[in-house]
Amino acid sequence: MPRTAIIGTGFHVPERVVTNHDLAQWMDTSDEWIRERTGIEERRWVEDGTTGAEMARRACESALAQAGIDADEVDAIVLGTLSPDHFFPGTGVFLQRELGLDGIPCLDLRAQCTGFVYGLSVADAWIRVGQYRTILLVGVEIQSTGLDLSTRGRDMAVLFGDGCGAVVLQATDEAGRGVLSTHIHADGRHAEVLWADAPSSVGHPLISVDDLEAGRQYPRMEGREVFKHAVTRMPEAVHEALDAQGLTADDIDLLIPHQANLRISQMVQKRLGLADDRVYNNIQRYGNTTAATIPIALAEAVEQGRLRRGDLLCVVAFGSGFTWGSALIRW
Ligand code: ACO
Repeated sequence: MPRTAIIGTGFHVPERVVTNHDLAQWMDTSDEWIRERTGIEERRWVEDGTTGAEMARRACESALAQAGIDADEVDAIVLGTLSPDHFFPGTGVFLQRELGLDGIPCLDLRAQCTGFVYGLSVADAWIRVGQYRTILLVGVEIQSTGLDLSTRGRDMAVLFGDGCGAVVLQATDEAGRGVLSTHIHADGRHAEVLWADAPSSVGHPLISVDDLEAGRQYPRMEGREVFKHAVTRMPEAVHEALDAQGLTADDIDLLIPHQANLRISQMVQKRLGLADDRVYNNIQRYGNTTAATIPIALAEAVEQGRLRRGDLLCVVAFGSGFTWGSALIRW
């Protein structure tokens, strides 16, 4: 049975930089509060009119160039997002159109911050059974247009950024290389701890003036509850992956945790006993880009030469749902 190798990585973030000081002009917050609680210094937000599909095309083009293959070798697109360009159809088909890949399947995944890990799990299974040989796996988000920029929404608005990361996955027979295993989970009992209530198909119309006035279109979160679960589930998922392979945390060369909050990543790092040089964080510059955090961070880590052939890469995520999961990849 072939394994799934990551043969190319790419990312795209909007040019517009929004600093904590910028946010403090629109809502009652401060650079100090944001840095202390989240580690975030700035994030990228789109200009009006930018689409997720456009950002995804750019990230995919970089990933394909790095892989050294033409787009027409791609057999399928798997795309994770919680902020689709439209209610339906999914962003995947708009990306497919941008890439001119008519006919290949496009699967949009709604696993929020865990979208990349869920997508890797699905794409890896397709590749291992031989259904597809080359798959574009994408995480893309435009969070900024969905945030409440008044003081009412400050707990959420300071956290999120826009961007896209993509990888090219391809079947390989090279011994020891590729995705070793993926482990995904969910617990819907906590669905409303981090969610956006509207638009909703429960009731007519999908979104009402009352909804808009009450701000039900904005994401809401019980921050401490999310924090508590994230710092438990993420190390647990890493251990699950390591145990499945008979490995220990010492074997990890690079951990890329979902970039929810620097404090969460630091606690996960501490619980796993990993040195600073074995964990990649970039939330300081991009904020939380949900499904895009892991592939953006991975593309940056590759650019910086942080991964060498044979290294053990671990990715782990936790997010709304709750959903969480991990994967081990031999680079
Ligand atoms: N600026 C200034 N003050 C703020 C802000 C802000 N942006 N947001 C909230 N506050 C205020 C609150 O109103 C509250 O004021 P009060 O004491 O007068 O009532 C005070 O700060 C403390 O609020 P808490 O919510 O208790 O702050 P906490 O220490 O829990 O930090 C945070 C909030 C950073 C969101 C934290 O709960 C957290 O990191 N949670 C994890 C969730 C997370 O990172 N989610 C990301 C998305 S989900 C994901 O990707 C997994």
